[in-house]
Amino acid sequence: MSTALNESAAMAVPQRTPVTRTVLMCKPEYFTVVYRINPYMDPSLPTDTSLAVKQWETLYDTYVGLGFDVRLIDPIDGLPDMVYAANGGFVIDGIAYGAKFTFPQRQPEGPAYMDWFGQAGFDVREPVEVNEGEGDFLLVDGVILAGTGFRTASNSHEEIASIFGRQVITLTLINPSFYHLDTALAVLDDTNIAYLPSAFDEPSLMILRDRFPDAVIATEADAAILGLNSFSDGYNVVIASRAKDFERELRARGYNPIGVDLSELLLGGGGVKCCTLELRR
Ligand code: ARG
Repeated sequence: MSTALNESAAMAVPQRTPVTRTVLMCKPEYFTVVYRINPYMDPSLPTDTSLAVKQWETLYDTYVGLGFDVRLIDPIDGLPDMVYAANGGFVIDGIAYGAKFTFPQRQPEGPAYMDWFGQAGFDVREPVEVNEGEGDFLLVDGVILAGTGFRTASNSHEEIASIFGRQVITLTLINPSFYHLDTALAVLDDTNIAYLPSAFDEPSLMILRDRFPDAVIATEADAAILGLNSFSDGYNVVIASRAKDFERELRARGYNPIGVDLSELLLGGGGVKCCTLELRR
């Protein structure tokens, strides 16, 4: 018994403090898979829109239960990927940098999200360069981690640096299954992240190892079901319920993982984080 006590004392699980979030979501009323722009999508497989809505509502209810301020943007018929609100822009300091999508199928989402930001009172900056919003831009420790390789153009990293006046760190993705930064890296709080090393090129890995020596290293199995695509308030981490290793590791580090099942939205290549855009005033 004393051994167990000593061990747990030695590990000293840190106290984590939740910070209430404001997020934007889009109900998947028109969700389906009719084109293929990532390896998860297969238009020949059936999708169940009402199940997608039900699963999404569980995520919505989870956020409300955590005390989040959840805002909604109206879904648009013919834009099945609009549910992945993370791609709609990047919002900090009351400024909303709009998205400019890589694939024509999603391009109309850019203006739709910018209209919403404008009506909600954000200072909207129209993008010149191709970028897919918070899918590829993540804020940690005041610094913007910026993905490139599949979707977001590296030119947008300079654009975003000049708009927000913050340091931007470019990270290059190399595995098409992890085509957005938020599929390969999760921000857990102000200073901690989790990531999948094999998703990044060597120079990016050197930066990540150097900057985040204590990062949670995800397993390939968890990452493959987009387990890293999670959303944290600093204590509660909403994750894919199938990401068991990630769940265990988060708990060991003093976080409170909360599993949700978004299997239907995984057919479009998205998970928890993809459905969530943080709004920071
Ligand atoms: N079908 C969408 C696409 O390929 C999924 C987007 C997932 N979003 C994300 N933030 N990773 O663009």
